Parts: sequence; structure tokens; C-alpha cells
Amino acid sequence: MFDRCCRLRTYRLLYPLRTFLIVSGWGDETDIMAADWVTVLSHKPTLIGVSVSPERYTHRLVSRHREFVVSVPSIDMVDDVWIAGSMSGPDKLRRMSLTLIPSHTIRTPSIREALANIECRVVDARSYGDHTLFVGEAVGYSYKEEAYPGGEPDPTAGFLAHIAWDKFIGFRPEVRRPNT
Ligand SMILES: Cc1cc2nc3c(=O)[nH]c(=O)nc-3n(C[C@H](O)[C@H](O)[C@H](O)COP(=O)(O)O)c2cc1C
Repeated sequence: MFDRCCRLRTYRLLYPLRTFLIVSGWGDETDIMAADWVTVLSHKPTLIGVSVSPERYTHRLVSRHREFVVSVPSIDMVDDVWIAGSMSGPDKLRRMSLTLIPSHTIRTPSIREALANIECRVVDARSYGDHTLFVGEAVGYSYKEEAYPGGEPDPTAGFLAHIAWDKFIGFRPEVRRPNT
């Protein structure tokens, strides 16, 4: 039921969602923002969509350089995730304790501490309402072997999801399989 008194944001009904970090730009103008609205759009080629408000500094950098990195933070990185999601512009990186490392295929750097980094080249950008959907083709990646043994995520590796505003959760190390 629509709860007028609490001004429910409809999209909140889809939460908890995973939170990712979007790295954009390079050198002194490298930025990192938190993003919940990230999705896989295609397998071959691997296309990843990221919905970014034009108000974000990240929007400017991704529009200009046509590339970005999607990094997978762990729950141990929650302080940095919060800084990435609550401050604007490259200066915030000085407050963060993350290490930028070269990516394999694009100039935008990856994050050493992240569980994984996916390097994307922008192939399309369209406005939907008040956000822009940047579609990136995955052209490279790096990941921590212990977080993805055999290429599958280990649920105990510390993956993180977002509840609302400044509330995050880690995953319980319990795997449920459908009864088929
Ligand atoms: C957990 C979390 C998830 C967020 N998800 C998105 C998102 O998907 N798209 C978006 O445009 N902003 C999102 N934001 C807001 C941006 O991360 C925030 O405005 C940030 O300060 C932008 O940084 P920038 O201006 O340096 O790019 C999110 C914030 C948080 C805390």
C-alpha cells in the first residue's frame, strides 16, 4: 500500500541493492562515487549500465573521457563508500584510504582494495528522467582470487549491500538453493 505519510520512494522497494564504486577520470582529476543503480545489460558483449545524475562530478568525467571502472567494495570499505557517496569531486580522494592502481585496458584507474574492478568503455549514453544511463562495454577486469574462487563469488568474502541512506549490510555466509 502506498504510504503517503512517509513519502515512500518507490525505488526503495527494490532494496537492499548492492553498492558499487564508479571510478572516472585519471591523474589529479580522478573521482570515485558510490552507485547503487548499476546493472548488467548484456552477456556478449558484456554491457554494464550505470545510472548517474548530471549533478555528479562523475557525470562530467564519464561524458568527457567515455570510460569508467565499476569497483566492487567490501564491507570493510564502508567508510570510503560513504565518503564516495556523500562528497563531490576529486578532492574527496584525499580523505579516503583507497589505493588507485593502473587498469589493464583503459586510463581510468582501478582500486586495489576492491574485491573486483571492471573496466568499461562507454558505448552509449541516454537520459532517462533525471539520470543518464551510461552503457559501458567491459573491456578488462581484475579481481581477488579469494573473493571469487573458481570464478564464483564466495559469500563470506565481505560483499556489501545498501539498505537506505547511511545503512549498509554485509552478506550472511549462508547459501540457499531452490528446491527443484
Ligand atoms: C550508497 C549510495 C549509492 C548511490 N547511488 C547513486 C547512483 O546510483 N547514481 C547516482 O547518480 N548517485 C548515486 N549516489 C550519490 C552519489 O554517490 C553522490 O552524489 C556523490 O557525492 C557523487 O560524487 P561526485 O560528484 O564526486 O561524482 C549514491 C550515494 C550513496 C551513498
